[in-house]
Amino acid sequence: MPQTPAGPSAPQKCAQQWAALAEHREKLGDLHLRELFAADPQRGSRYTLQVGDLYLDYSKHLVTDETLELLRSLAEAADVAGLRDAMFRGEKINVTEDRAVLHTALRAPRGAVIEVDGVNVVPEVHAVLDKMAGFADRVRSGAWTGHTGKRIRNIVNIGIGGSDLGPAMAYEALRSYTQRDLTVRFVSNVDGADLHEAVRDLDAAETLFIVASKTFTTIETITNATSARDWLLGRLGAGQEAVAKHFVALSTNAEGVADFGIDVENMFEFWDWVGGRYSYDSAIGLSLMIAIGPDRFQEMLDGFRLVDEHFRTAPLEQNVPFLLGLLGLWYGQFFDAQAHAVLPYSHYLSKFTAYLQQLDMESNGKSVQRDGNPVGWTTGPVVWGTPGTNGQHAYYQLLHQGTKTIPADLIGFAKPVGDLAPGLVAQHDLLMANLFAQAQAFAFGKTADEVRAEGVAEFQVPHRTFRGNHPTTMVLAEELTPSVLGQLVALYEHKVFVQGAIWNIDSFDQWGVELGKVLAKKIEPVLLTGEGGDHLDSSSATLVAKYRALRGR
Ligand code: F6P
Repeated sequence: MPQTPAGPSAPQKCAQQWAALAEHREKLGDLHLRELFAADPQRGSRYTLQVGDLYLDYSKHLVTDETLELLRSLAEAADVAGLRDAMFRGEKINVTEDRAVLHTALRAPRGAVIEVDGVNVVPEVHAVLDKMAGFADRVRSGAWTGHTGKRIRNIVNIGIGGSDLGPAMAYEALRSYTQRDLTVRFVSNVDGADLHEAVRDLDAAETLFIVASKTFTTIETITNATSARDWLLGRLGAGQEAVAKHFVALSTNAEGVADFGIDVENMFEFWDWVGGRYSYDSAIGLSLMIAIGPDRFQEMLDGFRLVDEHFRTAPLEQNVPFLLGLLGLWYGQFFDAQAHAVLPYSHYLSKFTAYLQQLDMESNGKSVQRDGNPVGWTTGPVVWGTPGTNGQHAYYQLLHQGTKTIPADLIGFAKPVGDLAPGLVAQHDLLMANLFAQAQAFAFGKTADEVRAEGVAEFQVPHRTFRGNHPTTMVLAEELTPSVLGQLVALYEHKVFVQGAIWNIDSFDQWGVELGKVLAKKIEPVLLTGEGGDHLDSSSATLVAKYRALRGR
């Protein structure tokens, strides 16, 4: 079965450069990283770049100077820079939704001018940031009280997808910067267990719900928010009037917010030109801002902006998002790599890869071009991963000795953050030793001769041999600060952009999530009543009947 619908075998604009890369790939054959390093003693320092606080080592990639040149020509022919500039200018590059794509405006400085339909959006961005800061300060200081007059100690963000993953990831990442006497939780799953576990030990009088939904129509979020409101009013024994002190909304849909019963005064706005998965530095980040404070939030935005500027202005040879995008494409197209692992060596980044899954896979999991014609090439990879050391004792076996090519990003920090006890600080060298060791093992492996030299019995030699040649990028920074987090996220946002531009897909729509939503709406009443299931296929009809029987219906 074809992996992609039939289409031309390369994007039209850059077909020639694509063919040149295919030919180059043929020529490289089984070239090993061991050979590349042996041929160039400077490789480990030469194939590096710095953007802001991020040091990038891409020497352990299966590329030569020629490969990099060919990849850059591909980006040039595809006019990635042209699309990038159109994005920064506020042009409607999300063609299927006819929308501008301006998450970069969310971190623009106060005086900047970025227009959408002739209106400068920067003042609105800062007005919302100011309103968020005022609110965050009141919650943090205890000036904002609940219905009974008690100060707020618990924040529960209710949202899903981009309205959950970003703030949840960043809250974990920056936990050591948070106001520790605030409890911050995130509810996303429509499984009632999620909300139940999030609120069961909370005092309703001290709890603030932040309902985060761009559209304010997402069924999971509205369902959870409704249940949260019932829980709150039930616990307080209060009427609707208590909602104003315990619910705020983050949305583009003022009408929907008002219909739900939240005072639009307590709504923090954003705009249709902010994609859900690009939104956590908008009002969607309110829970994070409450947790870390407005100043730290601003530092994070500054980090984003630093990489935006780099992406916009750095020459191709030094442009890190271009490089990362092109390297990913190199393996996807010419090594048949279907997956990409992101392996942070930081406990605080435990949700980082889950966040990137939406960013990358919802953006680039597409199989038609911008004009609707099918692609004839593979597009976005399966992005996965967990913090590195845990992975080492789980799935790294497959990475080292399995049959697949899975390029990986390894992320580490020189200094531990937080108020760790001295003994725990000392553990950091061990963590980092693991990081560097894995990168080494992935690249160079261990030959059969090396294994034999250790006196290993011959029958075990093939089992204990490591082929190596697994490409990795190492990203190293001094410390995981708010700014560094912003820099990292922006790096991936723009990497995804570069790839989508070359694949000629619309990275900013997400029609693929719609069908399931529509079908679920049709199935739900059948589960309840058993009626109206005539449209169901035989498998679904049998499953529904089984479910109803198990529920005793
Ligand atoms: O279903 C996918 C999606 O539309 C995401 O793109 C989005 O981040 C998420 O749902 C949540 O949407 P909303 O913020 O409108 O509730």
